Amino acid sequence: MSLEAIRFARSDPTNVQVSVLDQLLLPYLTKYLPIYTISDGYAVIKSMQVRGAPAIAIVGSLSILMESQMMLSNSFDQTQWFYDLLDWEDTRSKLTGRLDYLLSSRPTAVNLSNALKEIAQILKETNDLKQFNSELYNYVCKLIDEDLSNNIKMGDNGAKFLLESLSKEGFNEEFAVLTICNTGSLATSGYGTALGVIRSLWNDSKSKDPKVNTDGSLKPLASADSKMKHVFPLETRPYNQGSRLTAYELVHDEIPATLITDSSVTYRIKTSPYPIKAAFVGADRIVRNGDTANKIGTFQLAIICKQFGIKFFVVAPKTTIDNVTPNGDGIVVEERKPNEMKLVTGTLMNYDEETPALNVSNEPVSAKIGIAPSQINVWNPAFDITPHEFIDGIVTEEGVFTKDESGKFDLTSLF
Ligand code: MRU
Repeated sequence: MSLEAIRFARSDPTNVQVSVLDQLLLPYLTKYLPIYTISDGYAVIKSMQVRGAPAIAIVGSLSILMESQMMLSNSFDQTQWFYDLLDWEDTRSKLTGRLDYLLSSRPTAVNLSNALKEIAQILKETNDLKQFNSELYNYVCKLIDEDLSNNIKMGDNGAKFLLESLSKEGFNEEFAVLTICNTGSLATSGYGTALGVIRSLWNDSKSKDPKVNTDGSLKPLASADSKMKHVFPLETRPYNQGSRLTAYELVHDEIPATLITDSSVTYRIKTSPYPIKAAFVGADRIVRNGDTANKIGTFQLAIICKQFGIKFFVVAPKTTIDNVTPNGDGIVVEERKPNEMKLVTGTLMNYDEETPALNVSNEPVSAKIGIAPSQINVWNPAFDITPHEFIDGIVTEEGVFTKDESGKFDLTSLF
């Protein structure tokens, strides 16, 4: 099992190799796709072979690095790419156009847009391709390293905050948590955002015997023993990030979890053996007032949590903050193709009725299965926007933001 969404072999800026795990094939097939150009980056992001706001920004940035490396080594077809390498102004202006093209791959997550703005600035300030390549290399290394360290900080911040607030309320029992979509190692450079908090909570609960996987995905916390005993990931239709990816990560880390359908949340809350005390979700864009775009279904999960008095936390790094848009009305929500709803993408299995586990005895084959009449109209938004009223806390690497007495978030220190 691999939890590495992005493989980036660092050597020197002109000799980098990049590949991404094809997440459309998970959880049964592990295949890495090489990235050589911006077009490759665009394709894997658009098709959702790589997804998750931080991972999209990293892969987009790496694809620019790869294209600049190709130019430096002259190992691409100039007529195909139309760069005039003898003329830096021409190359710079064409590269700027390529950044716009990359940005059009997925519009909602702000991380890619934030990264591309910074890369455009590097492009503006550099005097030749070699300098651009070298500064971009430093930028991408920093982006990746900071993403990982921020995820670990967020994990600890969110876990401590929940434990302390439950304890203040006099609740010291064992509990369970909810999560939607995939916000783990597969959506980031490692550890994850909302799933990172869940990792921290779980590891804390085993702090007497901390278990660190070979890829370092679990990290011991210093605080007192946590009581989080179970995770309920939502399936997350139609792409099924919950069942294909989050379940995969939870199994990998041996965190006790039970997959539930999106429609069974309410009934699960009513019947869970452990009381459900919190939901942790990621974000694709958090705007100035705290309204948050995240995977479709997040808004209704927040409403359900409010109904049951379950704390609802958004977990995201500063790279997910949109400090320009005042509220959620200004967020562009991506609509995906109808076929992503009318067909289920999965892996053909040998299913043995006698054994409880799915049985992959032959080479598994990825397949699309029709589940709706081809003529039906479909509305397939990839995200929804949760108004800040429904959010109890925004967990960042700089701490947990809560609302003031008038019900407003003040996120200005993050801008
Ligand atoms: O469509 P996806 O899979 O890219 O959507 C991902 C999410 O909504 C995540 O919650 C978000 O990007 C945060 S990932 C750390």
